[in-house]
Formats: sequence, C-alpha cells, structure tokens
Amino acid sequence: MPETKLITMSLENPDMEGIREAADVLRKGGLVVFPTETVYGLGADAMNPEAVKRVFDAKGRPPDNPLIVHIADRHQLIDLADEVSEKGQRLAKEFWPGPLPLVVKRTVLGPDIVTAGLDTVAIRMPDHPVALALIEEFEGGIVGPSANLSGRPSPTSAQHAMDDLKGRVDIVLNAGPAEIGIESTVVDVTFDPPVILRSGGLHKESLEDIIGPVRSAAEAELLKRSPGTRHRHYAPKAQVVLVSEGNVQECMELLREFRQQGKSVGCIVHSHELSKIESGDFFKVLPSPIEFFARYLFRTLRELDQDGTNVILVEQVAEGGLGTAVMDRLRRAAEPA
Ligand code: TXA
Ligand code: MG
Repeated sequence: MPETKLITMSLENPDMEGIREAADVLRKGGLVVFPTETVYGLGADAMNPEAVKRVFDAKGRPPDNPLIVHIADRHQLIDLADEVSEKGQRLAKEFWPGPLPLVVKRTVLGPDIVTAGLDTVAIRMPDHPVALALIEEFEGGIVGPSANLSGRPSPTSAQHAMDDLKGRVDIVLNAGPAEIGIESTVVDVTFDPPVILRSGGLHKESLEDIIGPVRSAAEAELLKRSPGTRHRHYAPKAQVVLVSEGNVQECMELLREFRQQGKSVGCIVHSHELSKIESGDFFKVLPSPIEFFARYLFRTLRELDQDGTNVILVEQVAEGGLGTAVMDRLRRAAEPA
C-alpha cells in the first residue's frame, strides 16, 4: 500500500519541484491525484497498461467504463486520434484548454484498457496550470478519471480525494478548491451532428454557437456509447430526495415525514422561498448564480455524509446552461441504490 504524499502548491504558480516529483512517479507507473478546473483527477501514464489497471483498482471502477486521456498540447492528438472531424477540430480550437473531452476514433497506439475496448478515445486538455505543467513535465498523455471511489461524488478538493484514496495513490497535488465543481462535458464528434454523452461544465448552448445543432444522448441507443452514464454515480451515502423549485409545502411535508421516521435530514436549497424555511438540522443555502450551486454541490453532499445525515433534500434547479449538468447529477444521486 503506497504512503500518500500530499504536496500543496499555488494554482497560478505551480511548484516545479513538486511537479517533477509527480511526473517521476507517473513515469514509474505510479498514481498521482491532480487538480483540474472541473474536479480532481486520478492520473496515470495512459500508455502503461499496468498503471492504468491500478487506476481502475484504486477507484473500484468497473472495467467497462473507459477513461479520458488528458493532454497539454494539440500535437499529442496525433498519436492518440486516428481522425478528428471538422466540427471536432473547431470545438477543440475554441474550447481547449477547457472542460470538453472529445470522443474521437482512436489509433492502435495505447492500451485497450484505457478505452475499455472501444474503437474511440476521449481526449481533453484541462484548463488548469498545475494539470498542464504536470502533463508537460511528464511528456505524455495522462488518464484522469475523477479521483473518487467509484460511485461517490467527484472530489472538488484535494481533501476529498484524500478521504477516498489515501493509501491507494502515491501523490496528491493540492491547488485549492476546483473552480467549476462538476465534471466536463463529454462530446462524441464521430457523429454528425455531434452528441453530448455527458452534460457538464461546458454548456450545450456554447457548443452550438460554434458548430450549430448538437444532440443530447437522450436516445437509449446512444447512451450505450458512454458506459459511464449507465452506472449509478455521484451518490452520497445518504438517501437523496429532490424537491421542486420553490415548493415550500412539499419541502415541509418531506421534512416532517422523514423526521417522523426518526431520520436526520439535511437540506440543500437555493430559492428565496426555500431559503426561509427554519430548520434545526443541516441547512445549506447555495443562492444564484447557478455556477455557485454547481461549485459547492458535491462538497456539500460530502459534508452532509460526514455529519451522518440519513436523508438529503435537494431543491431542483432550472434546466438549461449549467442547470442541465446539475440536474443530471442530482437525478443520478437520487436514483435508488
Ligand atoms: O471533468 C472531468 O472530465 C474529470 C477531470 C478529472 O478531467 N474526469 C472525469 O473522468 O470526470 P471520469 O472517468 O470520471 O468520467 C469520464 C466519462 C465517463 O462517463 C466515461 O464513460 C466517458 O467519459 N468516456 C470516456 N471515454 C469514452 C469513450 N471512448 N466513449 C464514450 N464515453 C467515454
Ligand atoms: Mg467520475
């Protein structure tokens, strides 16, 4: 069992000594947790099948769920991608670095374990100085699933990653809380129009401004292509129950009902109406804008778990923009185990 070393550095000014140490660990097939603008990632050498296997083991991740390869330079695409459609290239030009993995046809280079045997690979250039410095120093692609135990909410801080993975990884690079707080938007550009396989930090509307219509993977057929979306995800230990936006009566009734069952109830709300509900238990108000709700959602779910809360009532947010990604995560968290 590796002893996990925590290295803290500033976001603007990555500490190169720490980065070099981490890159060295990657070269030896070890595991490094690194910060990105969305959530913390669990990094390993994307070309080393044993290292990648360690990532699956550390997370307890099902082997049929492929990983995103993180790059720091467009030239790294040449080794990994067989072909990138014209729309894919336009998206990369506009949004890289950023929260946008593109699913493209893969080359024969690179181990099958990364892509779970698919003929495509997801590639992303994160918008984070520490992540980019690490990839540059390592001089290769790094796989980077979210650095949580499989099924738990993604980590938005180094501490969350430590809570889940201490003793399972070699180094955790800490550069403070993640800016976006929700994972990236996975877009399959092997289709025309391209298909959003997972909504996330980059909005559908922003994608459409650049390349015109984009489809959502609502059709079950297409969902098969993003294995990750089939698994239960983002769930805290507590039971999550969704409350309609601004519905004070519904919220009060649910509070009463669960308390009668002897359960401790936590609330995460944002509207003016629900913010006014007096509650003795854990009560977290995450007011507008939606960016704020997204940034603190996973953190708050984890806090409530630590408090031993049995039930978490979460007020729904309006769909559209980042709201689509937030609602996707909330629905999944609320699915019965
Ligand atoms: O924001 C993020 O993307 C974070 C940070 C660390 O970069 N990473 C992340 O990775 O969320 P992960 O492994 O937790 O989620 C990756 C998603 C999964 O839903 C997976 O199924 C999908 O991307 N995916 C990866 N490769 C794919 C492929 N070739 N085809 C379809 N879906 C793919
Ligand atoms: Mg994940």
